[in-house]
Amino acid sequence: MKRGTNLKSKKYRYNFLDIFVIKKTNLFWKVVDYLSFKLEKLGNLYEKVFSKNYVRESKIFDISESKNILHIGCGAYPITTITLAKFNGGNIVGIDKNQKAVEKADYIIRKKGFIDRVKIEKGNGESYPVDKFDAIIVSSCSIPKLKILEHLFNSAKSDCKIIIRESVGPGKLVSTYIDAYDGSISFIKKIHNYTFPTFHWDSFYLLKK
Ligand SMILES: C[S@@+](CC[C@H](N)C(=O)[O-])C[C@H]1O[C@@H](n2cnc3c(N)ncnc32)[C@H](O)[C@@H]1O
Repeated sequence: MKRGTNLKSKKYRYNFLDIFVIKKTNLFWKVVDYLSFKLEKLGNLYEKVFSKNYVRESKIFDISESKNILHIGCGAYPITTITLAKFNGGNIVGIDKNQKAVEKADYIIRKKGFIDRVKIEKGNGESYPVDKFDAIIVSSCSIPKLKILEHLFNSAKSDCKIIIRESVGPGKLVSTYIDAYDGSISFIKKIHNYTFPTFHWDSFYLLKK
């Protein structure tokens, strides 16, 4: 497949159920992020419950050695960047395209004393410069997912680990896109995550050749 693929083709359209799942999931995370920012106890519980999945993901995908890590879609309560700061010795950048989320995430990172190794910045996963990162994590809420993947697949440096989180249904389209890409992306493995019985998502581990 030629780079700069025509993502408008029918092949890359989400079906109605996928769109519903994406909207429902994004709303859930946004509300929980916001309430966790407001209510410290809820924030600590949120961190405790979800960081377990992120530690497991980091261990299985072995990003402990990655020096420069980017998290696309950090949100108002940046659990992923906090977990990485606790688990990984490298430098972490969290970006969000929403200015309010960036201000809140920056406040949380300062409050938790990670400001020396974590930078929170306004940025869009569709265009943010990614060529210096050893590992890039794409949050499940980052949209439009395939446009973000196209940017990463085209611009990430060789040997960069690209970790994509996606809700189960819409994940099929991510697989289709990865399979069809021009061979410069290797699929390494996929793990399934779930926190509550009703809350599942997949994490894809890819490598830029
Ligand atoms: C609700 S958070 C959830 C992440 C969770 N806080 C964590 O640490 O894993 C997801 C965020 O992704 C952001 N987002 C969505 N699309 C994006 C994009 N293309 N580029 C950057 N941020 C994006 C949204 O603004 C939202 O704040």
